Amino acid sequence: MLQRVVRSTVIDAPIERVWAVLRDFNSHAEWHDAVEASRIEGDERGDQVGCVRSFTLKDGNRIREQLLTLSDTDHRSTYCIVEATLPLQRYVATLTLKPVTDGNRTFWHWESTFATPPGRERELRDVVAQGVYEAGFANLRRHLLGGGDLRAPGSPRGSAPMPTALPLPTRRVGLTHYGGPEELRAHEAEAPAPRAGEVRIAQRAVGVNYLDIYLRRGWLPAMLPASDAAPGIPGMEAAGSVLDIGAQVSGLLPGDRVAYLGPVPGAYCTARTVPAEWVVRLPAAVEDEVAAALLLKGVTADYLLHDLGRVQRGSRVLVHAAAGGVGLLACAWARSLGAVVVGTVSDEAKARVARAHGCEHVIVTRDYRFADAVQRACGGVDLLIDGLGEAAREENLAALARRGHWVSLGHATGALRLAPEALGAKSLTFSQPVLFDYVTGPGQLAMRAERVWQALAEGAIQLPPIERFALDAAAAAHARLESRGSTGALVLLP
Ligand SMILES: NC(=O)c1ccc[n+]([C@@H]2O[C@H](COP(=O)([O-])OP(=O)(O)OC[C@H]3O[C@@H](n4cnc5c(N)ncnc54)[C@H](OP(=O)(O)O)[C@@H]3O)[C@@H](O)[C@H]2O)c1
Repeated sequence: MLQRVVRSTVIDAPIERVWAVLRDFNSHAEWHDAVEASRIEGDERGDQVGCVRSFTLKDGNRIREQLLTLSDTDHRSTYCIVEATLPLQRYVATLTLKPVTDGNRTFWHWESTFATPPGRERELRDVVAQGVYEAGFANLRRHLLGGGDLRAPGSPRGSAPMPTALPLPTRRVGLTHYGGPEELRAHEAEAPAPRAGEVRIAQRAVGVNYLDIYLRRGWLPAMLPASDAAPGIPGMEAAGSVLDIGAQVSGLLPGDRVAYLGPVPGAYCTARTVPAEWVVRLPAAVEDEVAAALLLKGVTADYLLHDLGRVQRGSRVLVHAAAGGVGLLACAWARSLGAVVVGTVSDEAKARVARAHGCEHVIVTRDYRFADAVQRACGGVDLLIDGLGEAAREENLAALARRGHWVSLGHATGALRLAPEALGAKSLTFSQPVLFDYVTGPGQLAMRAERVWQALAEGAIQLPPIERFALDAAAAAHARLESRGSTGALVLLP
């Protein structure tokens, strides 16, 4: 099967400037960090259709590529691999530039199709997507900045735009006392100018997660302190555009469409300054609301199924709150990996949505009685994804198969109390992971986010229903989530 990789970005430079670099088939050695050295074979020019560039990568691989088409009118070129030490077979790529209508900027679209040896599809897709295209976007931005071409006409050349030192007004929703949704109130504040390693973001969609409710209730006071002097602002993720960047930030520029997630709450606001390492650029196909609905929950489903659960064909998986934000994604992704998926939901309407997202055996229960039905459906589960906690403890023990693994993800019904001896009877294993530990390290978040967007594009997960609330109505969003009334994801719109 042919693999397809598609990436696009916006470059903060006029189209003529970007095209002047990219139309030269041999220019990549000057701007792409992965390229060690490159030359055009024979006596041909770097913009001659049919010319072949022969280059070595810094990792030692060698590639020969031929320019197939070049259009100065459409700002488009096509090329293919003729010969390579990397097993990218029948690789054909197209690169297209378009002017961005709301400014002197350039939309750059890069896509390719290729075949790979069996079993290496994902690895080689990642090489092309991240190692070649995404790195190329960042490298070309830096190259152009170095030439001073990104500054306004008439301004001095040779230096990057500096962030403004001024704080910006931001509207936030937070609490001075822990308690119910009514504690959430809007107020005006300031988003500080980004310092070194930081990015200031104009937010357009904020993801709501069950964790925000634990924070509001005061279950994790170290994570969200709240006082009259300093209100606690919940929210772990959002999507929007980069306003400005601090020193030592690479790969991001003002105007980039981005999403972020991070371990320090504070996302319920219109503008926020966050560490650049929390931030990922968004592909054009992923809208702001979709990013806010999917980033944290999709990355969670990814690490649960791939890293912790090692789900494969025939794995039996039980997902609680199967029609919830994490639940729908976990069901669909597990099913696409070939698992037998069992889920619990509290009503028939949710059952229909869960079924449509790949949950094969849906158990409708409001009072956490499901173990017998699980045993009847599949003889016990190998992986339990449990965001319920205490109220479901005994049924969970009964629903697990021998050597099953219980992932205690959250505790919507109250903190789980589990004696280790309870696991021994069936040689069960138990873990209590937190997603922030699965996105540490350079590139980890970008890699996982990319898997989520890819899974969505390929249909391994489907877009869940999204319930939208104004930022100021965060209290209503919380009330809805904890009432068990919501299906899919909730987002706030600043
Ligand atoms: N550790 C991590 O890395 C991590 C990351 C993300 C999320 N989580 C956890 O995963 C779980 C799901 O998170 P989410 O944001 O996607 O929320 P969600 O599943 O959309 O919403 C919670 C769902 O839990 C079910 N529920 C059962 N009993 C409940 C009760 N007494 N009160 C409230 N809800 C109850 C409800 O579904 P039914 O009515 O259908 O039962 C409800 O819709 C949460 O426990 C969250 O803390 C953990």
